[in-house]
Amino acid sequence: MKKLFLLGFVASLADCVAAPPPAATPPAPTITVQTGRPGADINPAMWGIFFEDINFGADGGLFAELVKNRAFEFPDPMTGWMKISTSLAQGQLSIRDDDAFDPANPHYVRIHSEGTAHFGISNQGFRGIGLQAGETYDFSAQIRLLDGAPRLNINLVGGDGAMLASVSLTNFPSRWEKVAAELHPKATDPKARLDLILEGKGTVDCDMISLFPRHTWKNRPVGLRADMVQMLADLKPGFMRFPGGCIVEGSYLDRRYQWKNTILPVPDRKLLVNRWNYEFEHRPTPDYFQSFGLGFFEFFQLCEDIGAQPLPILNCGMACQFNSGELVPLAELQPYIQDALDLIEFANGPAGSLWGAKRAALGHPAPFNMKMMGVGNEQWGPQYIERYAAFAKVLKAQHPEIMLVTDAGPSPADDRFNFLWPKLRELRADIVDEHCYDHPLWFFTNTARYDHYDRNGPKVFMGEYAAQSVDVVSPKNRNNLECALAEAAYLTGLERNADVVRMASYAPLFANADAWQWTPDLIWVDSLRVYGTPSYYVQQLFSRNRGDTVLPVELRGAESPPSQIQRLYASAARDGQAHEIILKVVNPGTAAIAARINLAGMAKIGPDATSTVLAGANLSDVNSFDDPRKIAPVQSQFHPPASPFPWTFPPHSFTVLRLKPE
Ligand code: AHR
Repeated sequence: MKKLFLLGFVASLADCVAAPPPAATPPAPTITVQTGRPGADINPAMWGIFFEDINFGADGGLFAELVKNRAFEFPDPMTGWMKISTSLAQGQLSIRDDDAFDPANPHYVRIHSEGTAHFGISNQGFRGIGLQAGETYDFSAQIRLLDGAPRLNINLVGGDGAMLASVSLTNFPSRWEKVAAELHPKATDPKARLDLILEGKGTVDCDMISLFPRHTWKNRPVGLRADMVQMLADLKPGFMRFPGGCIVEGSYLDRRYQWKNTILPVPDRKLLVNRWNYEFEHRPTPDYFQSFGLGFFEFFQLCEDIGAQPLPILNCGMACQFNSGELVPLAELQPYIQDALDLIEFANGPAGSLWGAKRAALGHPAPFNMKMMGVGNEQWGPQYIERYAAFAKVLKAQHPEIMLVTDAGPSPADDRFNFLWPKLRELRADIVDEHCYDHPLWFFTNTARYDHYDRNGPKVFMGEYAAQSVDVVSPKNRNNLECALAEAAYLTGLERNADVVRMASYAPLFANADAWQWTPDLIWVDSLRVYGTPSYYVQQLFSRNRGDTVLPVELRGAESPPSQIQRLYASAARDGQAHEIILKVVNPGTAAIAARINLAGMAKIGPDATSTVLAGANLSDVNSFDDPRKIAPVQSQFHPPASPFPWTFPPHSFTVLRLKPE
C-alpha cells in the first residue's frame, strides 16, 4: 500500500542542519507569548491514540493470551503447534471437527498415546511465551476423555529446555468440560513454551487451550497485558481510534472487520486472517490471524479505563483500494449502515434495547457515551463520497448527536486529497481525517499547514502520522530523535490551529519486536518488556500539557536560511484550571539556542515553574529494551525572573515550560 507512494523528499534533518555555518552568530531569537489574548479553545480530547491490529498489536500484543492458535481454527490447524514425541513413543495426533464442544469453533486436536513414552503437543506462543518468575499463570482447556486413564502433564518449559512449572491432570470427563490449573514458573523466561504431554495409555480431545498471566490489566480474566495498557494510560489520551486502519477495510470485503462478530462469546468469535499477514512481501507473517479476543466490547472498556473517548471506525462498503477496491453497490449498502446504527445502540442505548442488552450482558449496563464514529478508513474517489453521503443521510437523521469522521485518503496532498476535500466541504462533513507518513523534513516544513485552512469548513482530525527516517514502509525506519523532533515541531502547528485541528493521533501504536510488519511505531514490546520511543514521549508531553486555550506566540529570529528548517518552533496554551501558561519549544539544531522569552501581559511570574526537556546527543538516538529511557523527558523546577527572561534551549530538544503568574 504505502509502497505505492511517490515521495518528494529524501533529505534528512542531519543534511539540512549540516548546511555551512552562517557568517555571523545570528541574534538571539525572541519568543513572545500573548498571555492576555486567549485564542481558540483546545479540544479536551485533542491528543489521542490510534490502535490497529498490526505488528501483532492485538494477538501476540495487547490481548494477553499466550497460546497461538489455541482453538486450532487457523487454516493449517497445527500452526503454532508441534508434536512432542521420542523414538520410544507410540501415538497419534489428529485434527477433527466431529462433535465439537462448540459448533462455531469446530476444530480440535485428538491426542492418542499407547503409553510407551511421553507423547503430546507443544505451543511456542507468539514467537515464544514470556513467563515471569513469581507470577501465576492460568491454564485452561476444553477436554474430554475417549479411552484409557492417562494423565495430562501441563508443562511450562524454558527456551533452554528447563522445566519451569508443571501440573498433572487426570480423571477427565467423557464429555467436553473446561479444565483449569494454575502454574508458577520458577524462573523468568521470554522464550518459553507450553507442553501438553500424555502419560499412560489413552486418548483425549482438547480445544481452546489457553494460558493467561493472572496479572492482567485490572486483573480481568482473559484480559489485556497490563504493562502495555499502562503505557497507554500514561499517555492520558483524549480519545482512542480503533480497530484500524486498513484492517477495517480488508483486502476483500469478506475480510473486512465486522464488529458484531467480536462481541460474541469468545470461542464463537470467528477467526479472520489479518491483512498484515500477507501485505508486505518483505515482511510476510503467515501466522498472523485475528482471534478477536480484543473485540469491540473490550475496546470500549479499555477507552473507559484510560479516560479516552471511543472512536470506532466502520467499513463503508469499500475494501482497501490499495488491494481489491471491491465495492458494495449503493443499493446494497443498507446492512453496512445498519451496522453503524446498531453500534450506536450497542454503545449508547439503554440496557433494555436490543443491542444495549448485549452490552449489558457483557458486563456493562451503563452506556459507553460514544460521541463519534468514523465512516471508512483511507478511501478515496467519488465512490467514497457516494457511500459517505448515504451513511450521513441516515446517521445524521437518526443520531445528530454523533460526530461523523470522514477521511481524505492516504496522503495529505495529492489528487485524491484534492478531490475529496471540496466534496466533503460541500457535504458539510463534521471532521476530516488526514493521514501523513513522510520524511522529517515534511513535518518541519508543514508546521504552518493549517494557518490558512478555512475556519468555517469541516474540522480536521490528523488521524495517522509519523515521520519516516528512511522512507514510507521501509523496514529500515527507526523511531529516532530526529523523527520525534519533527513530529513535535509539526504538533506545535496543530496546537496553534486548535480551532481547526480538533484531534490528532500517531500511527501505528504498537509493534512486537519479534513479529512486526511496519516501522516506525510508537511503542515496542516483546514477550515481557515494553518501551516508549522518543515519539511516544512527544505524544505524552503534548497530551499531558494540553492546556485549554491557545495563546498567540510570536517567534522572532527563528528562521535560518538557507535551511528550510527553522531554528525554533513554538506554541503556547493556557491551562485555566492550573492557572498556568504552557510554552512548547522545539530546537531541532545541533547548537544550543539562547533565546529570550517574553510573557506579554504577565507582570510577575510565580516561583514554581517547571521545565520538561526531551533531548539527546544525536538525531539518530533511539530508545531500546536495554536503554528504554535514553531519550525521555527530564523535569526540573525553576524560578524565572520577571519577563522577559533568557532561556537556553539545548541542542536537539523539545522543551515544555509551565509558568504561573504570581
Ligand atoms: O498505520 C498503518 C496503515 O497506514 C493503516 O492501516 C492505514 O490506515 C495507513 O495506510
